[in-house]
Amino acid sequence: MGKTLGLSQKHLLATPDLSREDIRYLLNTARAFDQYFQTSETPEPIPILKNTTIVHFFFEDSTRTRISFDVAVRRLSGQAIQFSASSSSVRKGETLIDTAKVIQAMKPHALIVRHSSAGSPQVLAEHLQIPVINAGDGFHEHPTQGLLDVLTMEKQLGDLKGKNVLIIGDIAHSRVARSNINLLRKLGATVTVSAPPTFLPPQSEAYPVKYAYRLEEALPDADVVMALRIQSERQTRNRMQIPSTAEYARFWGLNRERVKLMKPGAIILHPGPVNRGVELEPEVADSPISVILDQVSNGIVARMAVLAAICQPQRLQQWLEERGAV
Ligand code: CP
Repeated sequence: MGKTLGLSQKHLLATPDLSREDIRYLLNTARAFDQYFQTSETPEPIPILKNTTIVHFFFEDSTRTRISFDVAVRRLSGQAIQFSASSSSVRKGETLIDTAKVIQAMKPHALIVRHSSAGSPQVLAEHLQIPVINAGDGFHEHPTQGLLDVLTMEKQLGDLKGKNVLIIGDIAHSRVARSNINLLRKLGATVTVSAPPTFLPPQSEAYPVKYAYRLEEALPDADVVMALRIQSERQTRNRMQIPSTAEYARFWGLNRERVKLMKPGAIILHPGPVNRGVELEPEVADSPISVILDQVSNGIVARMAVLAAICQPQRLQQWLEERGAV
């Protein structure tokens, strides 16, 4: 992998590949983009991705990730091409790798991949010459979601060193939890997970977190509470690993009573989509301490940072230097 100016990676596949310096570079770049769009009355697109074509290579449904990557490409003056598996020749039996090679032959500059199989972006990166950006692979990783989440936390709370982040819910099947845990640990935060036992990953070095077996015990210490959706599509043998969603909501749902246990200034995140009444009571999802829609907005600048750093690192560096942002 060639060393670029700001990021040590050609691809963005998984959060363990990012050094602390890489994470800081991406977060600082995202904040510089954020400032540019907030301070200009009618901000012009930034020309960093001019003449640069990005393919959205999505094999799984998405609202937030797909659209925010699209907006990010446009705000950087690039072109986005949409690939839809359901209307492609994948349906005629073409393999994932052959399909990606066909697209690469049309000379795009990068592929943004979402797929239900964990590790598929890694496999594609091994077979392609162009950069691959992981937009969520099975229950493995969702690195840009992790970046937008830590960006949201930093904007609300400042330096995350020493902060306590509580993640509630289906940790075992969650790519969002895994990416967040890796990034938060590198930024010096402490992560606690709390869930029914069937949703907790086995205690191991892969999950360097604290375990809280009763939600009420963990809530008062948390600076950030992140609720996760139950990933029913990733559970085995078509069987839910909890008795019912109603029972889950009763013991693990974040409701107004449980929010009273949180400390003043603590915030609530959820990567979306939210199942109202299951992991979050509607009044909690819409409350002033919920920053769920801020996460969505921050997703645009976090993804702009990733695209610019990977596809046009020299242009990005020049833009940051011109603005005194490095
Ligand atoms: N958080 C997230 O990945 O949402 P989408 O599935 O809507 O992209």
